[in-house]
Amino acid sequence: MFTLGDIKLNTPVILPPLAGISSYPFRALNRKFGCEFSFLEMIDCRSLVYSSKKTREMMRFTKEELPLGIQLLGENERFLLKALEKIQDLPFSMVDLNAACPQRKVTSRGAGASLLRTPKKLEKLLKLMVKNCAVPVSLKMRLGWNDASRASDIASSGQDAGIKAIFIHGRTKAQGYEGGVRYEAIARIKKKLTVPVIASGDILNAGLAKKMFDETGCDAVTVARGALGNPWIFREIRKYIEKGKILKRPCVEDIIKTMKSHLKLSCDFYGSKRGLAHFKKFFIWYTRPFKGGRPLRGEIVRLNTVKGAIDMMSKFKKIGLRDKK
Ligand SMILES: Cc1cc2nc3c(=O)[nH]c(=O)nc-3n(C[C@H](O)[C@H](O)[C@H](O)COP(=O)(O)O)c2cc1C
Repeated sequence: MFTLGDIKLNTPVILPPLAGISSYPFRALNRKFGCEFSFLEMIDCRSLVYSSKKTREMMRFTKEELPLGIQLLGENERFLLKALEKIQDLPFSMVDLNAACPQRKVTSRGAGASLLRTPKKLEKLLKLMVKNCAVPVSLKMRLGWNDASRASDIASSGQDAGIKAIFIHGRTKAQGYEGGVRYEAIARIKKKLTVPVIASGDILNAGLAKKMFDETGCDAVTVARGALGNPWIFREIRKYIEKGKILKRPCVEDIIKTMKSHLKLSCDFYGSKRGLAHFKKFFIWYTRPFKGGRPLRGEIVRLNTVKGAIDMMSKFKKIGLRDKK
């Protein structure tokens, strides 16, 4: 059992906020496959305060999904406070501050990973959140802007500010997704902190999740890219860390069944036109392990009907079964 703030999870594996991805359909699907705690997509404090249509849609969730966390993006105290006010009656179990997003449009205004360059400001924002939030606050950080030397100091000052957990992607902002994950740097942070450390980076299968636990001593992990077109990863990790067993990969029929549920969830949520558009990138991820599926991945982009997507799945079945032989 893993305790995070006020919630208890049987398996220490979390679905993090994924911008543009972790809306209701993706979360609901992963929940069905054993993910016990997910975050909404990252929410910009300004958009939340102005309550844009897009943000209202990003904030939609169902009771069945709880517990849920929300991650805020912001660098401005006034907007952060107003954003906290806006969510104070919503049933989130954790409120996270993003100090990890590497996108230029975010960092150029001092938000996201840029906060790692201004640790005093980051600490101030966290203190403000802790003071004004009824539920536990957490911090998501990378190891640093362009070097990891201050990572454990930044994490410690977050803990001193009163956060109840730290999420860490084991790379610097400058690394992007290049180079390996710095397990030793996460391990140093874990040694220094008493709050739970939740690690991320390259957990693309159950073996890599175990490696993260073994090499860093982290309390839990998040799975981001590894869950794209692969909701099975949650139960695979659970089985492997609990029983040391490697589960068989899903067969082509199971992949298609899951794709159909995913497409339906998407269309029910967004309407068929946008739902299809949202699903297309997942079709690419679901079929990526199959070399023979490459022409279909090209074709799906041009499709504009839900029926066309279902037909594409039938074509994929033939290719998938052939690839297996
Ligand atoms: C498409 C995508 C969107 C992401 N969006 C967010 C986000 O909104 N907030 C955040 O803290 N991290 C975000 N991340 C970073 C992941 O949570 C994670 O830390 C990073 O991808 C490393 O983990 P992985 O190797 O499992 O992908 C995103 C990652 C991806 C691939």
